[in-house]
Amino acid sequence: MIRDASGMTSRAYLSELFSLDGRVAVVTGGSSGIGRAITGALARAGASVVVVARKEAQLAATVDELTADGCRAAWVSADLSTREGVRAGAEEAAGKFGEPDILVNCAGINLRPPMGELGEEVWDTTMAVNLEAPYLLGQRFGPGMAERGYGRIIHITSQQAHRAFVQSGAYGVSKGALESLARSQAEAWSPHGVTANTLVPGFVMTPLNTRLSSDPERVAALAARTMVGRNGVAEDFAGAVVFLASGASAYVTGQSIFVDGGFSVH
Ligand SMILES: NC(=O)c1ccc[n+]([C@@H]2O[C@H](COP(=O)([O-])OP(=O)(O)OC[C@H]3O[C@@H](n4cnc5c(N)ncnc54)[C@H](OP(=O)(O)O)[C@@H]3O)[C@@H](O)[C@H]2O)c1
Repeated sequence: MIRDASGMTSRAYLSELFSLDGRVAVVTGGSSGIGRAITGALARAGASVVVVARKEAQLAATVDELTADGCRAAWVSADLSTREGVRAGAEEAAGKFGEPDILVNCAGINLRPPMGELGEEVWDTTMAVNLEAPYLLGQRFGPGMAERGYGRIIHITSQQAHRAFVQSGAYGVSKGALESLARSQAEAWSPHGVTANTLVPGFVMTPLNTRLSSDPERVAALAARTMVGRNGVAEDFAGAVVFLASGASAYVTGQSIFVDGGFSVH
């Protein structure tokens, strides 16, 4: 093991900066795609993680994989498209390992009919899952985090929070508002040790966008729009989420951090 001049090992130093040992995390949408990678990263960094989504088989598979690796994880099946579903899911989640120190709002849906055909049902469902659930979960867990003096709220937004393309519709509106929600939460709770930030993906092939993913030409065109030269993979979010969940990011709040291979900067 490498030691620095003070005799501290690099492993101890990294652990002091980033370890999530003893922390409790709740990850919505943690059973698929980006959320599943985020769940794995937080659990492997030491947190006890509760995964919240609807489909039980995927939830159980996610948790089984982590417990087999020696991590602490549990799941809650809840429908985050209704207020009652969010409330019940939050109570059940808190019952697993206690009140969370880390909340990751990753559950999201992407229904994007052409603007002229965007009806109230799509609008309402999109706002309920992508915006209202994160708001309600923040109200449920944020004040407790502030009282205990440590909290990390991390939302997953989108390029469409910043610019309209590929039929942004209600989806883009929900993600834009989610970034504003992060700033409101940051304003309220940062003085009490609770940061609120968003991670902004580029294009990541997941079940969310199977239609687009199955068109090789469009996939290649999206990869060409990045600076790195490829589309994202779910594991690209591991380092950023551990950083934002850890003590190392105490002075980072209200920010949107783009994990997009440079997609947004040219
Ligand atoms: N993939 C991309 O290129 C991309 C780009 C920008 C932003 N994002 C954002 O990143 C996040 C994750 O996306 P992803 O691509 O990883 O999607 P994904 O693979 O489709 O995963 C979505 C997750 O959300 C859960 N979910 C959906 N509706 C729910 C509901 N009503 N109640 C509870 N859970 C629900 C799903 O589980 P159940 O179906 O079992 O409920 C699943 O775990 C989303 O917020 C998305 O908007 C993704």
